[in-house]
Amino acid sequence: MIVRPRRLRVTPAMRNLVRETRVARSQLVLPVFVRDGIDAPHPIASLPGVVQHTLDSLRAQAVEAATAGLGGIMLFGVPLDDDKDAAGSVGERPDSILNRGVVAVREAVGDDLVVMADTCLDEFTDHGHCGILDANGRVDNDATLEAYVRLAVSQADAGAHVVSPSGMMDGQVLAIREGLDAAGHADVAILAYAAKYASAFYGPFREAVGSSLQGDRRTYQQDPANRREGLREALLDLAEGADMVMVKPAASYLDVLADVAAASDVPVAAYQVSGEYAMICAAAERGWIDRDAALAEAITGIVRAGADLVLSYAALEVPALR
Ligand code: PBG
Repeated sequence: MIVRPRRLRVTPAMRNLVRETRVARSQLVLPVFVRDGIDAPHPIASLPGVVQHTLDSLRAQAVEAATAGLGGIMLFGVPLDDDKDAAGSVGERPDSILNRGVVAVREAVGDDLVVMADTCLDEFTDHGHCGILDANGRVDNDATLEAYVRLAVSQADAGAHVVSPSGMMDGQVLAIREGLDAAGHADVAILAYAAKYASAFYGPFREAVGSSLQGDRRTYQQDPANRREGLREALLDLAEGADMVMVKPAASYLDVLADVAAASDVPVAAYQVSGEYAMICAAAERGWIDRDAALAEAITGIVRAGADLVLSYAALEVPALR
């Protein structure tokens, strides 16, 4: 007798009934960029449909995200070039563009969205690296930790519900946890970019944040060839007190995501990064693929692999998701 799995595919209602993976808007997080010194939203050519926001357009975007039922919003800041320095010190100022963005979003949506801030120096340094450089031009792990703590506390002061260290310094989660607690921010959570790979898929992001980076990040971000190490990084962040751990990018790292999801006792996030989104947009613009269907399939695959939450530039515009 032939075994017939196709019986469960005969109608849309049947397929809907037996679907194993459902994606809810409430598990999606929208990454957004807020830029200093502009008076109108500025398109990002390599990220169709995504802009660098003014504080006003950021507020409106946050309200739209909350109204659509998204789970959260992740803020990245784009400072004036003149404000960048070797230590990225503008980032931790209460009036940095990122911190003003956090304040604006909290004013607009209160607690209706989980407001997350990227806790990293790369947007703020004139060399574009995620940390402070030593005399030899290498990223100094422990000097960077002190800067991350100040940055995270400033973001918590501004009203971030979640700080999100993305610089891949060793010990960053523990240092930030202790710093937040000492500053009276025991309720602010840490979403750790735990397994973050030195990826070619970050290309459009570098335009989005006006990155000053020369070279690459291979001495701190992970080698794309390493699966076991991704799990190791996640376990270390869990031991340091991470409230959530992230795997990034998503599509090319679904094995790492599945490993981390199997081992983690906290929620696991995955970031569909700029290049993953832009590739789908670009192919769709040429009429080669169906944009909405491809985005929905990609995000469904990320959830199927084990992500509890997904950061995606498409969070608001995938009609197939409910
Ligand atoms: C670093 C950071 C990057 C991204 C998020 N946080 C860039 C990098 O590591 O070079 C990339 C996100 C994306 O490509 O969408 N603060």
